[in-house]
Amino acid sequence: MNDERQLVRSRVSLVELVSQEVRLKKTGKNWTGLCPFHDDKHPSFTVSDVTGTYRCWSCGAKGDVFTWMMERRRLTFREALEELAKQAGIKLSSKPQEGASKRGSHIALMEAVGKFFKSALADSARAQKYCSDRGIDANTIEYWELGFAEDAPDALPTFLKKSGFALADAKELFVVDGDSTNGYGGKFRDRLMFPIRDERGVLVAYGGRIIGDGRPKYINSSDTPLFRKSRVLYGLHQASSAIAKKNRAILVEGYLDVIACHRAGLQEAVASLGTSLTEEQAKMLKRWCDRVVVLYDRDAAGQKAAERASELLAAEGIHVSVCLMPEGQDPDSVLRSVGPAPLLKAVEQGISPLEFRIQQIQTRLEPTDDAFWTEVTVALTDSTDVLEIERQIERLAPLIPGLRDPMASRKALRRMIQKQTAGPERTAPTRRARRERFFRLEMSGVDRVLLLAAVSENFRHLVWPVFELADTFSSELSREFAVSMHDAFSGTPPEGDLASWVDALQPEDTRYRFLDFVLSSDLEPDDTGVADALKIFENRKESIEIRKAVVAVPSNDKELAEIGERLRRIKRVE
Ligand code: UTP
Ligand code: MN
Repeated sequence: MNDERQLVRSRVSLVELVSQEVRLKKTGKNWTGLCPFHDDKHPSFTVSDVTGTYRCWSCGAKGDVFTWMMERRRLTFREALEELAKQAGIKLSSKPQEGASKRGSHIALMEAVGKFFKSALADSARAQKYCSDRGIDANTIEYWELGFAEDAPDALPTFLKKSGFALADAKELFVVDGDSTNGYGGKFRDRLMFPIRDERGVLVAYGGRIIGDGRPKYINSSDTPLFRKSRVLYGLHQASSAIAKKNRAILVEGYLDVIACHRAGLQEAVASLGTSLTEEQAKMLKRWCDRVVVLYDRDAAGQKAAERASELLAAEGIHVSVCLMPEGQDPDSVLRSVGPAPLLKAVEQGISPLEFRIQQIQTRLEPTDDAFWTEVTVALTDSTDVLEIERQIERLAPLIPGLRDPMASRKALRRMIQKQTAGPERTAPTRRARRERFFRLEMSGVDRVLLLAAVSENFRHLVWPVFELADTFSSELSREFAVSMHDAFSGTPPEGDLASWVDALQPEDTRYRFLDFVLSSDLEPDDTGVADALKIFENRKESIEIRKAVVAVPSNDKELAEIGERLRRIKRVE
């Protein structure tokens, strides 16, 4: 079935298909035109046969030949497949799938597991002590349906078998692993269990925190037939009515932060699930409210995540305010050490994403640096919040060195902004420009060149070996792409356009992010670019190895000398 889907996709030109309805013009690598999914005034619709996908940078519509047929012609997936196969002269062998969904039995299994964990918590003095040490009382356990996964690997499989559930299903649902020959074992061991319900209250996944110290601190379900991590927010089921009533959501980082906020009276708190906020999650929030308070940790990761989340939320038209917890604290620890007052106050004292961004600049640079004003004007021109821009101009203008008169300084700042806006390609930031910027901030130039080189048939074989070394990539996102490529094809690169192999990239969210990256990027890798990127990558790999060697070998003259020599070699290359 999947092969046929792939075959159809590689034989049908999306550009041709879309051209039957939309006038497309070739612009750079892609084709663009007026988006048929909304009332488009300027061409914001991009189509590419290389990726086999379309994307509207204004309304967000996206998809491939199948979704195009489904949406434009109102077909089911099966009908779209049949229609396109006919056009491409492909004979389908598979029969349409019969409806019989496993969803019901999957849900029953998840609920049974939930009860099992719950009673294990009631039976374990140790797990209960952990809870009480952390200030998690009986009401909280009851309300959030917390449970405990014992350290005994057999416990859950034995229970499930006795209750008549298929262990293969349990494995698909990420509660056990193993197989029928070697036996099954519980996926979560010695962990406090947080059941995750989707918006409608269906128990779709689990998160488990280790009791005490140990790694990894949390294990979260990966995507399963019931669960798409990127489309679920922890706590939304419990929070949705408060969110609707207050027309506001509070976004925090972790499970325990959600629980802490609810206990403090902020029942509109939710969290993404061990990953940064996704576009889908931002869209979900927009369905419930118009305002979101981002309440993250003050560490570097928290600041970056806050900036990123604000951007995604603002792109959905949500009014965002940002507040960071005091250094070294999170909502859970604040609630336990001081009580709810600081939390309630923090939420009321959020600042706009623009001010947040400017404050970040202010911690790095001084108004006497030219770079300060360059970055500030970029931030001011990126924002679409007119009132807030004015407020920031008032606040910043007096900082311009050498100007005393407030009027004159405001005028000077406005002139800088105008110059920035009048630049060659600085119209209002489109969604595409924002995505482009997002990927540029998120990944290093080297990583981006290598990933784009893999899309080009000219360079794919040359760069492919780097994907085996995911750890050598410089950010979480590029590692995610590298792992996905390597998992799909290991050492042998696929042949043909990205469109014909992109389906192999898993999970689905990673695949869509990768497509977005490719479609929004203007970068065209060339011989020297790719060669340089490979050289720097090789260098990075070398320094990682050296770092490991230094940590592993305390002191041995010969080995130290060798490390020194390797370091010198690297220096020379750079
Ligand atoms: P934190 O490390 O801040 O944990 O991660 P926490 O929520 O404060 O938990 P405690 O108080 O140390 O017990 C924040 C969130 O990031 C995800 C979890 O969703 C967690 O709640 N996370 C963290 C993971 O998914 N995996 C990890 O290994 C760590
Ligand atoms: Mn914590």
